[in-house]
Amino acid sequence: MATTPSRPRTAAAAAAATKSSPPAAGSAEADAPGGSQHLPQVLQYYRSWESRLIYRFLGGTKHYGYFRPGDPSWDVWSAMRRMEDQLAQKLGLAAGAHALDAGCGVGDVASRLAEVHGLDVTGIDIQGPDIEEAQRRASRRQRSGRLQFQQMDYAALTFPDDSFDGAYTMETLVHSDRVEDVLAGLYRVLRPGGHLAHFEYSRSPKDRTSAHDEKFMTEINQMAAMPAFQRLEHGVLERLLTDAGFIDVQTEDVTAHMLPMLKLFATAGWLPYLVGAALGRSRLVVNSMAGVEFYVHRKCWRYNITTCRKPS
Ligand SMILES: C[S@@+](CC[C@H](N)C(=O)[O-])C[C@H]1O[C@@H](n2cnc3c(N)ncnc32)[C@H](O)[C@@H]1O
Repeated sequence: MATTPSRPRTAAAAAAATKSSPPAAGSAEADAPGGSQHLPQVLQYYRSWESRLIYRFLGGTKHYGYFRPGDPSWDVWSAMRRMEDQLAQKLGLAAGAHALDAGCGVGDVASRLAEVHGLDVTGIDIQGPDIEEAQRRASRRQRSGRLQFQQMDYAALTFPDDSFDGAYTMETLVHSDRVEDVLAGLYRVLRPGGHLAHFEYSRSPKDRTSAHDEKFMTEINQMAAMPAFQRLEHGVLERLLTDAGFIDVQTEDVTAHMLPMLKLFATAGWLPYLVGAALGRSRLVVNSMAGVEFYVHRKCWRYNITTCRKPS
């Protein structure tokens, strides 16, 4: 993974990196305590032409869809809305409750929760352009009242204690190199009794993964800036949530419901992957590589919905 001379740790520092002017070593931004250490790698992954092409095709949304038996596998857009509805259901908040979307991207998940489920949502992301796009989309949909977006690192939350009735991550905790800090921050900003939901991946234990599977998983997780996916074996997130103080921790494996979309990516991705690998340029087509390899080796990982709450 390419590195930069100074490593932004805060969202403000990430913004500086986005504009190719990283904060000077010794500056307040560069030296802010806590926060993610590898934001440049995350930004580099999302700025690649392949990531931009794929997420443009998806309308800017960056998560898998939820397919029930009989749902057409080509209609990924409806499936993504169904996944967002799953989130609303699992979060279990009443209309009017205030939720935090940690790693919101362009805000489509937050919009769905506001428009269809009546929640007020504050979305945060490290990518300035995504936050601006989220604000534009919210104002176009005339939902600005229910939706707020700001650039922030979810490992260094600046909200006051007990700010939210609920919080969630949708396919973003995998990018974290500070999972314990993220969970501690989410615990702090949730009010007592507040609900938390994670829609995230876990992987099979390293001692039960073949050398070949471990090799491709390590490569993809490094190229796509997903240190937590490399680390979070089945059951580990649940233990970390318990350690952070959360109770009623429950996980549902919904891999079967998102596989049709992964299969689509694998079908579309095998040719770019083969060409990229033949030219020794797999990094340029890491999403294609991930689509193919994760579909072929689908016993090595799971897509989970994990829910819990802060004690009252
Ligand atoms: C796969 S995308 C999911 C976006 C959104 N949740 C969705 O479902 O469309 C992951 C997002 O997490 C954001 N992200 C990664 N690390 C982050 C961090 N430390 N703090 C805030 N956002 C982060 C990325 O910028 C990206 O927008």
